[in-house]
Amino acid sequence: MKIYYHDDDNTTDKQLPHETSETVSVEELKKLGVLAYHYDNLEDVDKLASERSYVSRDEVLITPESFGADRAIYESKLTSFYAEHLHEDEEIRYILDGAGYFDVRDASQSRWIRALLEKGDLLILPAGIYHRFTLTTENNVKALRLFREEPKWIAYNRPEADGNVYRNEYLKEIGV
Ligand code: LAC
Ligand code: NI
Repeated sequence: MKIYYHDDDNTTDKQLPHETSETVSVEELKKLGVLAYHYDNLEDVDKLASERSYVSRDEVLITPESFGADRAIYESKLTSFYAEHLHEDEEIRYILDGAGYFDVRDASQSRWIRALLEKGDLLILPAGIYHRFTLTTENNVKALRLFREEPKWIAYNRPEADGNVYRNEYLKEIGV
């Protein structure tokens, strides 16, 4: 997994790398409550899933074609994925094929850290963290979504979610 500060240039295609030389380590991500792993074997994913009580899972394929012939539907999906939001539960993604970008807010809450996830990469975002997602310009990702019995998948956008209980708990957790 490649992790770095996003260049914060919103004038160009969001699906470009937006890479800077400011790299971020897995340890630094951990301080934000974000866990990054790489597993070549599904058995290792199964082990993590049972340790963390992720009893359910499904598979998603995201490509322009997966949303039908009308490319506009895909584009509108990308727009909603890229709106800064949080969830009241962990978001866990294991990449089976293709690639995608997850952006998370750093401790300052004003800068984006970008993680490039490729085949075998697994990312766990804690409840309450502001994040967004997009695909690379390859426009292809197949991912396993892991979750507990009752996934709380509703996306709460910033700034409406600022007073959210899970948000406040998260900020306390990371000491902000
Ligand atoms: C999600 C990604 C887009 O909530 O963050 O599924
Ligand atoms: Ni999300």
